[in-house]
Amino acid sequence: MNTPTDNLNPIVPKLLGETAFVYVAKAKELSKQGHNVISFGVGQPDLPTFQHIIEAAKQALDEHYTGYTETAGIPELREGIANYLNHTYSAGVKPSEVIVTPGAKGAIFLGISSYLMPGDEIIVPEPAFPAYSEVANFVGAKPVFVPLKWCGQEKGFSLDIEKIYSSITKRTKMIVVNNPQNPTGALFPPNEIERLYEIAKEHRLIILSDEIYDNFIYQKGRFKSFLTEGDWKDFVILINGFSKTFSMTGWRLGYLVLKEDIVQKLSRFAVNIYSCPTSFAQKAAVKAITGTWEPVKEMITLFQRRRDLMVKQLRKIPGFEVWPSGGAFYLFPNVSRFLKESNLTTEQFVEYLLYKHYVVVMPGSVFPKSAGQDFLRFSFASSEEAIQEGCERISKAVNELLEKKS
Ligand SMILES: Cc1ncc(COP(=O)(O)O)c(C=O)c1O
Repeated sequence: MNTPTDNLNPIVPKLLGETAFVYVAKAKELSKQGHNVISFGVGQPDLPTFQHIIEAAKQALDEHYTGYTETAGIPELREGIANYLNHTYSAGVKPSEVIVTPGAKGAIFLGISSYLMPGDEIIVPEPAFPAYSEVANFVGAKPVFVPLKWCGQEKGFSLDIEKIYSSITKRTKMIVVNNPQNPTGALFPPNEIERLYEIAKEHRLIILSDEIYDNFIYQKGRFKSFLTEGDWKDFVILINGFSKTFSMTGWRLGYLVLKEDIVQKLSRFAVNIYSCPTSFAQKAAVKAITGTWEPVKEMITLFQRRRDLMVKQLRKIPGFEVWPSGGAFYLFPNVSRFLKESNLTTEQFVEYLLYKHYVVVMPGSVFPKSAGQDFLRFSFASSEEAIQEGCERISKAVNELLEKKS
């Protein structure tokens, strides 16, 4: 019999989780059983948080910096973030226009739930990071998915600007742009970003710009932040964070940048949810963003080498089309030819790789609907040895499956 505590808001059981976390749990279970699992599953740098950042957190703890802080973040962190954005993008951000949040996901939640009302539409180019559509669903808004265009392994992915344009209705309020993109690694060229910005202005829409991978760029000069547009504050809300750039996923620190008076209103909402981001983690983040960036630069150089190695290895596998991503740390190969020949779905292939060869990759179909169903997501935030060995195992699996079929 149903009890009162069973009666959830009906939207809650319908929300999707994040499949990467499910696969992490499965991989941990297999490792516990003694299997040598190689994971290309989860979206986090494999390097530990840089030592000078850890030292700053230790110092903050030693000084008992453990109480509540300002809801929007400590002043020196908001200032550090504003300086970073102004230095990098000449963005004209004031510290009072920054809200520090528990992870970039916290920023996505605040940003989407503070603007969208039941029945509003939010355009989400997909495949996409699942949080945008799930938060929209939670508040009763409607995600309108527009597939990215796959232009083959030489060109990769591009935004379907015409389709985005034709998907705008009277209910559209927001367009999500995640650049560089998770899961595809796409780095959209400046002219596509400019065109989207024009469209947003023409229809008076908000661009929710998730630029959390803005330092993971493998094509120099190609990344264009929306913050370089002169009047961006009227149309853009920016999401960014510390998780990826400084390898701080577990510290839970992100941020949202928007107009000062909106920051004040959103802070009133935020204080009712989480009071403030973690105090000593914020002190560490000040060190991250104002201290040396050398370890970040070294990480990006390392990741580019790993990307090249993974592309080379995966391109040897029959039926895989692999585009060398322009940003983030993912490859998103099209495996439709292999799936057709082996008569498998992406999910079946992923399960086979996991349970027979102990390699974790993500099915493209979980981001979050259907545009990615012929693709796999690989994170190349793994050692070169793991990339080499993991790709060999996948190659073996593919050959086994093709032989079985013939
Ligand atoms: C595009 C994108 N946005 C936001 C996030 C969330 O970051 P955080 O761990 O800081 O919440 C991720 C994490 O994978 C991401 O890929």
